[in-house]
Amino acid sequence: LSVDASSQNARKIPDKMFGIFFEEINHAGAGGLWAELVSNRGFEAGGPNTPSNIDPWVIIGNESSIIVGTDRTSCFERNPVALRMEVLCGSKGTDACPSGGVGVYNPGYWGMNIERRKVYKVTLHIRSSDAVSLSVSLTSSDGLRKLASHTITGSKKQFAKWTKIEFHLKSSQNNTNSRLQLTTSRSGVIWLDQVSVMPFDTYMGHGFRKDLASMLANLKPQFLKFPGGNYAMGNYLRNAFQWSETVGSWEERPGHFNDVWGYWTDDGLGFFEFLQLAEDLGASPVWVVNDGASQNEEVSTATIASLVKDVVDGIEFARGGPNTTWGSVRAAMGHPEPFKLDYVSIGNQECWMLYYRGNYQKFYSAIKAAYPGINVISSCDKSTISPSNPADLYDVHVYASSSDMFSRTSMFDNTPRSGPKAIVSEYAVTGDDAGKGTLVAALAEAAFLVGLEKNSDVVEMASCAPLFVNDNDRRWSPDAIVFNSWQNYGCPNYWMLHFFKDSSGAMLHPSSVQISNYDQLVASAITWQSSQDKSSHLKIKVVNFGSKAVDLNISVSGLENGIKSSGSKKTVLTSSGALDENSFQQPQKVAPVSSPIDNAMQQMGVSLGPYSLTSFDLLL
Ligand code: AHR
Repeated sequence: LSVDASSQNARKIPDKMFGIFFEEINHAGAGGLWAELVSNRGFEAGGPNTPSNIDPWVIIGNESSIIVGTDRTSCFERNPVALRMEVLCGSKGTDACPSGGVGVYNPGYWGMNIERRKVYKVTLHIRSSDAVSLSVSLTSSDGLRKLASHTITGSKKQFAKWTKIEFHLKSSQNNTNSRLQLTTSRSGVIWLDQVSVMPFDTYMGHGFRKDLASMLANLKPQFLKFPGGNYAMGNYLRNAFQWSETVGSWEERPGHFNDVWGYWTDDGLGFFEFLQLAEDLGASPVWVVNDGASQNEEVSTATIASLVKDVVDGIEFARGGPNTTWGSVRAAMGHPEPFKLDYVSIGNQECWMLYYRGNYQKFYSAIKAAYPGINVISSCDKSTISPSNPADLYDVHVYASSSDMFSRTSMFDNTPRSGPKAIVSEYAVTGDDAGKGTLVAALAEAAFLVGLEKNSDVVEMASCAPLFVNDNDRRWSPDAIVFNSWQNYGCPNYWMLHFFKDSSGAMLHPSSVQISNYDQLVASAITWQSSQDKSSHLKIKVVNFGSKAVDLNISVSGLENGIKSSGSKKTVLTSSGALDENSFQQPQKVAPVSSPIDNAMQQMGVSLGPYSLTSFDLLL
């Protein structure tokens, strides 16, 4: 393996080369990254007409003690459905309520993870026809053990109108499968709406589940593409992600049915929160706009103008000053400074649709007129882009078997070097050998990324898909990060991405592998500087996609000051079986293992195990 590490033959890899793509799929956000513990907190998931289904809320008590339903008497205009509980027990002349009271409970998203000594912020809205004594508690899954509790009391007059109540609950115990209970032993009618329980301790205090957001931060992503995927489009436009419905106070957000991936989202993770997440991760936001196309419908070019304005308004929400119409809405949400939104992707995989190109041009012109600095991304391939159909970047999605993905290490080798560059915003190995995230799939993806590094003169950005899966609602496999209400683990491809986290903005050096009768190796070499201690590194990555162990001589030329005698290390991602996966039981079965390299030199003999990704990090 020869590496020319001289500076004169090096080329800079784009600063935003490796990022992440977040889609609301597999409960990635609702019941995932967004830390809200109550599922269907606004009682809107059953639809706007009442009576409606209150799933997953469950009634505590029987028909002779309580009648629970929904009506449209909420104080929130865009969110009209409220819960109505008519408590029949507990007044003079009737039976006393059962011990523990009657009411409702919410199990969260497959159980709430409540931790000892942690604080939870509870918010709810209440109205009543009578005096109130409502116990709000976090309990075990059978409701028998209380972890934390608070009682809301008040006179008939006090709650005659909708009243917002906020308080903190501190848990006395750990319980990964808890529920929220709202119970009373007093007769009367109580209405409830917008019932929220948020952990106090979230990532940077912005509402993101800390463990999951930290896993993203550890990848050092340079961009965050959101909110989908097909989710951005919807199966039908009425169910698509509409940015303006997802901003402002959370209680006023209508929420929507994610008809592509089959679940309700209350849009707590809305446009503002995506921009905030990107900022918190130090990543550039890449917004996939709904451009008037769903999986089943299209707005024609003759009638696209209002949607074009809607998207330009969305950019103003992100980038406008605090005195602009939409910038003021953002400022009121606590972020007066503009967000650095520099990338807007027009639709998702829509080039084949009848009106896409005509509509695209309308979006392009309007965005460039208002914000010339924004990079506009086309869903069409490079061959379609021309001065009369311009684009700053074009979007590429690659889903392939592992052998096909491995061969795509050369996918961009023959791409014309001029013109717009690619953003490979979705790539993944799928199919039988991908399983729920196998080693071999991760290695094929690593080879593909090595190819992207080498072609980073024509590829500007890349991100895998999908990012997250809640193990209780697996709509798509494989995914990079698996979680449930309290656990998480990275799949082999999550760990593989760590091998590329120093590549964005690094210098790429020519490298070549010469080996006879074996075509399963690919390699790349970069030099990069640590922003923390300014130390310089040469990182050589080698993917061995085959079943043979290989001995290689590494030969590095062109280094000005050579390699330091200590401080270098080798990191290997491998396992005993190519189809091995991680799991909650064995979260680190396939994870990188580092060891020091003693006497690192410019000429070194190394051994590569079968089915392995190895990185030689040499301290310069
Ligand atoms: O990543 C899952 C889906 O695959 C995305 O929603 C879509 O863009 C692609 O087809």
